[in-house]
Amino acid sequence: MFHWLEERPFFFAVGVFVVIAFAGLIEILPNFAQASRPIEGLKPYSVLEIAGKEVYKKDNCIACHSQLIRPFKSETDRYGMYSLSGEYAYDRPFLWGSKRTGPDLHRVGNYRTTDWHENHMWEPTSVVPNSIMPAYKHMFSNIADIETAYAEALTVKNVFNVPYDQDINGDGNVDVALGSWEDARAQALKEAEAIAADMKNQDVKDAVARGEIPEIVAIIAYMNRLK
Ligand code: HEC
Repeated sequence: MFHWLEERPFFFAVGVFVVIAFAGLIEILPNFAQASRPIEGLKPYSVLEIAGKEVYKKDNCIACHSQLIRPFKSETDRYGMYSLSGEYAYDRPFLWGSKRTGPDLHRVGNYRTTDWHENHMWEPTSVVPNSIMPAYKHMFSNIADIETAYAEALTVKNVFNVPYDQDINGDGNVDVALGSWEDARAQALKEAEAIAADMKNQDVKDAVARGEIPEIVAIIAYMNRLK
């Protein structure tokens, strides 16, 4: 029966297209269902975390790291629960990545800590002896762009209805406050102070005390958020 098809390249190509399109739809369509996005209780990124995400993009961490745990035993044993589409509802753009020179980072906040990241970003081989990851010393002096991060949060709040200034988990309190630029800046600084308190680099501590947030603090906020 398929002999007829094999002799006709055009219809064969159409057939291949239909089969692949159907398989693609089966994978993609369920993700449009309301129930799958966002997952229950998902909180938007704080302004500091967005600033860290910008550093992640700028310094091209995605060239070596994915953020997508596949549903295979080898991956769930190592990284934890496989990734769900609804977890990315507030990610614009997605940072799934496709290259794994280094490990997946989607749940790195569950097993790495602020002080570990501090040592690792300054000199990866100090904590992972054979690491081939580059050092990111400049992050300790570069100042993160909190203003742009605030603008980004404001944009997704207004354009995509990302739930800032809302009570998401129903405990009567606003979960992630955005407010005015002054409010947001003060909140970002408060989060930065908590991270700097767990760090040992004196220049970073001094900068935060002056009201400036080095990129390393922002990227650590972002790493700690990935759970
Ligand atoms: C050239 C490739 C490369 C780039 C670029 C890179 N990494 Fe890595 N990364 C690695 C490798 C390889 C490892 C595994 C060895 C190690 O832990 O140092 C790793 C490990 C890590 C780990 C530890 C994960 C774990 O589960 O132990 C973190 C966190 C991390 N990288 C964050 C980053 C961040 C943030 C950036 C961007 C600022 C970045 N990496 C850029 C290659 C890279």
